[in-house]
Amino acid sequence: MKEAPLKIGTVEIAPALVLAPMSGVTDMPFRRLVRECSGEAVGLVVSEFISIEGLTRNDLKTHRMLRYHPGEHPISIQIFGSDIDRMAEAAALVQATGVDLVDINCGCPAPKVVKKGGGAELMRRVSHLERILRQVRRELSIPLTLKIRAGWDDDSVNCVEVARMAEAVGVDMVAVHGRTRVQLYHGASDWDLIGEVKRAVDIPVMGSGDVVSVPTARERLKRSGADGLLIGRGAMENPWLFRQIVADRAGETIAPPDVRQRLGALRRYRELLDEAYPAKVTAARLRGMTCRTVKGFPGSAHLREAVTHTRTADELIEVLDRFERHPHVVRTESRGAAA
Ligand SMILES: Cc1cc2nc3c(=O)[nH]c(=O)nc-3n(C[C@H](O)[C@H](O)[C@H](O)COP(=O)(O)O)c2cc1C
Repeated sequence: MKEAPLKIGTVEIAPALVLAPMSGVTDMPFRRLVRECSGEAVGLVVSEFISIEGLTRNDLKTHRMLRYHPGEHPISIQIFGSDIDRMAEAAALVQATGVDLVDINCGCPAPKVVKKGGGAELMRRVSHLERILRQVRRELSIPLTLKIRAGWDDDSVNCVEVARMAEAVGVDMVAVHGRTRVQLYHGASDWDLIGEVKRAVDIPVMGSGDVVSVPTARERLKRSGADGLLIGRGAMENPWLFRQIVADRAGETIAPPDVRQRLGALRRYRELLDEAYPAKVTAARLRGMTCRTVKGFPGSAHLREAVTHTRTADELIEVLDRFERHPHVVRTESRGAAA
């Protein structure tokens, strides 16, 4: 059963469940994997954040990050930076690729980003952010969205003020990660605060932070009254989570993925990575994903350990195959291989 769509400017998403932007994670292969695992339960996917400096200086590696598959619509591309003209220029470049939405990052806490005035630093420079948004809005015909944090620190929580300003200058949706920049990823995302933002503006407000299961999805939505949810780390551990949430809303239960399904998804992820990257990148990304995905079943700790010692994607897939055939043998063989 299809859920009622949420309108973000002219774009409709249904359901209002979004794969959150994650640097180093939500590239094309990972986004495709999540869509394959969760199907139509993924309402929108967002790219990793992409540097406006790299885009406007024609850096090839940065431009490659704009790639997406035709099956990924609706898709949003997130950009970060702080220069007003470059932000507008980059937004126009992004729009020209045919994506559905452009998102601006106001949440990245990384020192190398905030020191240059971008990411969460924009929460401290609201009038500068306003100028950026006005200029980008003028440049775009597709919807513009903003991803913010609660504020910079506990003494400067200003997400309500920023969301009001964004609405006034024509931003079409605000996503709020309910932690401050200083919190990084510690503590809990404040969904009461996300609720305050929701009540303060008329544009859609989505919440982000700690949606990792069906019960947390249900509770965070109810508590905040948000229009939708962003799912980040939960999707890394469980790319079927969107499907499970939608099933729950329809009164059904989908069993959590078993070991076979998880290993199957990793094999598929390898294929998707191979289509997009050279072998070295594939191996590194596959290793990272495997360590996050193989958790909580008998032998998973040993499997993870064996995987960390692999150098190529072929070696890693061999470890998975061996584990599937003989869960007890992978342990000794991989230790031997690692020695
Ligand atoms: C590895 C990683 C990379 C992230 N990169 C981005 C990013 O590029 N842009 C962004 O707006 N948020 C980024 N985030 C924040 C997430 O989008 C999300 O707001 C945050 O992780 C809280 O949600 P979660 O608990 O569902 O993961 C990142 C988070 C993680 C864990």
